[in-house]
Amino acid sequence: MARYEITGGTALSGSVTISGAKNAAVAILPAALLVAGKCRVENVPDISDVRILLDILEDLGAKVDRLGEGVVELDCTNIHDKAPEPKLVRKMRASYYLMGALLSRFGKAEVAMPGGCNFASRPIDQHIKGFRALGALVYESEDYVSLEPGPDGLAGNRVSLDMASVGATVNIMLAATLIPGQTVIGNAAKEPHIVDLANFLNTMGARISGAGTDTVKIRGVETLRGGTYAIIPDQIEAGTYLAAVAVAGGNVLVQNVIPKHMDCITSKLAEMGAKITNYDDAIRIQSAGRLHSTTVKTRPYPGFPTDMQAQICVCMTLASGISRLTESVYETRFFGYITELSDMGADILVNGKTAVVTGKEKLTGAVVCAHDLRAGAALVIAGLAAEGTTYVENIHFIERGYERLVEKLTGLGAKIRKIEE
Ligand code: EPU
Repeated sequence: MARYEITGGTALSGSVTISGAKNAAVAILPAALLVAGKCRVENVPDISDVRILLDILEDLGAKVDRLGEGVVELDCTNIHDKAPEPKLVRKMRASYYLMGALLSRFGKAEVAMPGGCNFASRPIDQHIKGFRALGALVYESEDYVSLEPGPDGLAGNRVSLDMASVGATVNIMLAATLIPGQTVIGNAAKEPHIVDLANFLNTMGARISGAGTDTVKIRGVETLRGGTYAIIPDQIEAGTYLAAVAVAGGNVLVQNVIPKHMDCITSKLAEMGAKITNYDDAIRIQSAGRLHSTTVKTRPYPGFPTDMQAQICVCMTLASGISRLTESVYETRFFGYITELSDMGADILVNGKTAVVTGKEKLTGAVVCAHDLRAGAALVIAGLAAEGTTYVENIHFIERGYERLVEKLTGLGAKIRKIEE
């Protein structure tokens, strides 16, 4: 078991370069299964979720070359028509994208139920509804989902999602890409990684329009060809570093970002008292570490992301006054970190979907445990801002989504190290 040891109280300075977006990478790598040819994918983050996914693709017969510096070459021309290795599939959430990708490529699929961060009940009924609309027969058990063509075969269709689900939008886009006819997804998710997936697939020859709006149209094509594509920078990794500087204090240039994707986060940090300067592909944040209270409600993009809920909560714990934080995507997400922050001296009262956070003068170092990826990142931020030493346990959750976290934070002057035990 490994853990992080963090000695708080040091302001952060210098610059940090953001990696490729996790949630785009975990959609784009399965999308390579649709391509009979070589895909060169750049800006791929070196995180455990991506490593697991590449192992799954390799096991399916893909040729995978990890060329370093974020470049991966994939050739899925000769993949096998078999179930992806269940032990690997169960290690992560986004393995559900193998359902849409394999359905598209082979007209059928059998995929184990995904694992991953369990901060809430995370049903996949909207994914299934989409597959059924495309003509698939879907059999679900506790452990597996299997998909087969129905009596009329697979064909494009209209699907209106009950909620703007990122996962269902991605899975239906993947499934519809090689299925004949036009598919229209209504009430689609608009997150930047939806647009990134569409751009990747279109670069390889797909015909997808409307990504980034609530109506995505996919006209099925017969084949996709190989090509080169660079994944967008990670909005949430960038937001995590910005929140860290806001609360620990300092002056940092966050490089390799798309500032427009960051507006929902930077506008809140500015409201709390941090100074934000946007450049073409970088953001400077300056903060004295003395923040003001605010009100935040998480929403699908372009709203404030649920994946930044825990990090902004840490900022609130040290802001003057009373803040209110409302979660509208996953109601139970607070419970991954509230007890831990309280152990560090935070004053947080959760009432249903809203946490009321009374800002304190200081947090104090403690031994705390990450229960999911973003909750873990928030505890690291809290450790950076706290007095004394914090130990964050269960860091495998954090390594799912943050590339070289210790190295990047150390580069900003933070006192953090990984202890292997
Ligand atoms: N939902 C359903 N049925 C479905 C799908 C979703 O009821 O079939 C509900 C969920 O329970 C949730 C809401 O709809 O209340 C939105 O869920 P969504 O499908 O959008 O989430 P997801 O695709 O499972 C992705 C990210 C999450 C991120 C959410 C919301 C990936 C691999 N994961 O999850 O990222 O929190 O969108 O933006 O893209 C993370 O990176 O830490 C993370 C958890």
